[in-house]
Amino acid sequence: MEKISLAVLASGRGSNFQALIDWIKNDDPPVKIEVLITDNSNAHAIKRAEGAGIKIEVIDYRFFENKADFHKKLFQTIEIYAPDLIILAGYMRILKGKELFENYKNRILNIHPSLLPQFKGSTNAQKDAFEAGLKTSGLTIHYVTEDVDGGKILYQEEVDISDCKNADEVAERILEREHLAYKKVIEELARDMLK
Ligand code: GRF
Repeated sequence: MEKISLAVLASGRGSNFQALIDWIKNDDPPVKIEVLITDNSNAHAIKRAEGAGIKIEVIDYRFFENKADFHKKLFQTIEIYAPDLIILAGYMRILKGKELFENYKNRILNIHPSLLPQFKGSTNAQKDAFEAGLKTSGLTIHYVTEDVDGGKILYQEEVDISDCKNADEVAERILEREHLAYKKVIEELARDMLK
C-alpha cells in the first residue's frame, strides 16, 4: 500500500505523537512516520520513538548560539527525509524559513488547544481558557504559516470544560480529543493526497 510519510516535530511529552504511533500500529492507515525531530534532547517523545523503532533527530535549540543556524539545520534535516507532511505535535518553537514554507506549503500541520483565533499564539491556552472562566474551549488543527497559529483551519472541535476545577483538568479534557482528532485529519489529508 502506498503511504504518506510524516515527519513529527515534538518538544516534550509527546502524547499526541504516541497517539499517532498507536494508531498506525493498530489500524494500518496509509500513513507512516519517517522520523521524530525534536529541539529538546530531554523530550520524552524520544523515548516513545525508541519504543516504536522510529528514527530520531535531535537538534537541540540550546546548543545553537546563532538561532538562524538552528532553523537552517532543522530545515536541512527535514529535507533529508523529504516527508509528505510535517506534523507539529507539541513542538514549542516557532518555525522559521522562507524555503521551509515554500517547499512545504499546505503540508505542515499543527494542533492547538483552543478554538482559534481564541488564544492565538498562547503556549498555555488551556490555562487561559480556565482563567477566563470559559464553559467551552476546544482544539484546532490548522496549516502552519509564518503567521503563528494563523494558517487555514482544517478542523475544530468544541470541548465542554464547564465542570473543570483547574487548568490541568481543562488540558486533560482537551488532550483526549486531540488524540482522536489529529489522526482523523491526517488520514483524510493522506487519502486525498494519494488520489
Ligand atoms: C498539546 O496540548 C498540543 O495541543 C499543544 O501542545 C500539547 C502537546 O502535548 N500544541 P503532547 O506533547 O502531545 O503530549
